[in-house]
Amino acid sequence: MSSRIVAVFGATGTQGSSVVQAILLDGTFIPRAITRNSNSEKATKLKALGAEVAQADLWDIDSLKQVLSGVEAVYGVTDYYDPKNSAQGHNSEMLLGKNLVDAAKATHVKYFIWSSLPHCTKVSNGKYLNVHHFDNKANVEDYLRDSGVPHSILHNGWFSENLWNYNNLVPVPDSDCLELTVPRYDPHSPQYIIWVERDLGQCALALLKHYKDCESEVLSHTFYAASAKLSYTQFASILQRALEKPVSFVSSASTGMQELDDMYAFQSEFGLYPYTAIPDPRLINLGVKFHTMEEFSREIKSRYA
Ligand SMILES: NC(=O)c1ccc[n+]([C@@H]2O[C@H](COP(=O)([O-])OP(=O)(O)OC[C@H]3O[C@@H](n4cnc5c(N)ncnc54)[C@H](OP(=O)(O)O)[C@@H]3O)[C@@H](O)[C@H]2O)c1
Repeated sequence: MSSRIVAVFGATGTQGSSVVQAILLDGTFIPRAITRNSNSEKATKLKALGAEVAQADLWDIDSLKQVLSGVEAVYGVTDYYDPKNSAQGHNSEMLLGKNLVDAAKATHVKYFIWSSLPHCTKVSNGKYLNVHHFDNKANVEDYLRDSGVPHSILHNGWFSENLWNYNNLVPVPDSDCLELTVPRYDPHSPQYIIWVERDLGQCALALLKHYKDCESEVLSHTFYAASAKLSYTQFASILQRALEKPVSFVSSASTGMQELDDMYAFQSEFGLYPYTAIPDPRLINLGVKFHTMEEFSREIKSRYA
């Protein structure tokens, strides 16, 4: 049995659970699933699948050092949506990310994957100043670089799981139709979509498996975890064919939250990752087998039956 431990943050969530599953399936590493409550239903399920489960809070650096003891590598993610985190202010995610980098450095972690997003303020040249959860993650990238901890950055696409997690795809009342609703998005602008469950864990695993033997290609580089590049209009057509019911794209005016509105307006205007091929050919070369949105749409058919 492997003695190479990877600490996975956010393990009870969408991203981290994909990483834990991929690590378990592969067998090269043991996943140590980090949670604030190791007795929760989700944590108990991870234990049953074969993951180690350890309790820590990103606000508590001593707890981080404890769970990183004996760990070779870290998958690091912070959660913008957690009310306990956002209650601490706009830059809370940056503080959490820095805590994790400090703890990784103190415990001599050999490799750190940071789940990140572009810096909206910088990319938009100051036009979009309110997308704190992007800028904070990007600021942690700088901190990680300066720390000297060997690392890669993994930029994520828009989660296909948002369709049900955030109700982006909902039935139209009294009809057989569905609406794919995304605020402030040009119907023809591309979105960079990741099927997190199937593809994100693979991306993290490929980097973990090759950070030593492909050091120069992997360390200090930024990779793009996106399964497909499609406009929402194209995505609606794919969903329509697979779900066998009419799906139309609707760009709603506002979410009622300035930060989310600006996030979507930024993505529509600038694109998340306009200067790279999608799927990322470097990840394909490292062994990632990305799925298509056609495959995704067929798989989720029963949710919208
Ligand atoms: N939705 C999208 O399209 C999208 C796209 C790109 C990036 N993102 C980013 O993804 C992030 C959220 O990831 P997700 O959707 O995978 O999360 P999620 O499903 O909402 O789960 C949140 C995870 O974070 C953990 N967590 C929260 N606060 C913590 C703390 N203080 N200490 C330790 N663990 C903590 C939770 O663990 P416990 O509750 O078990 O402690 C849980 O595992 C957000 O920051 C968002 O910006 C989202």
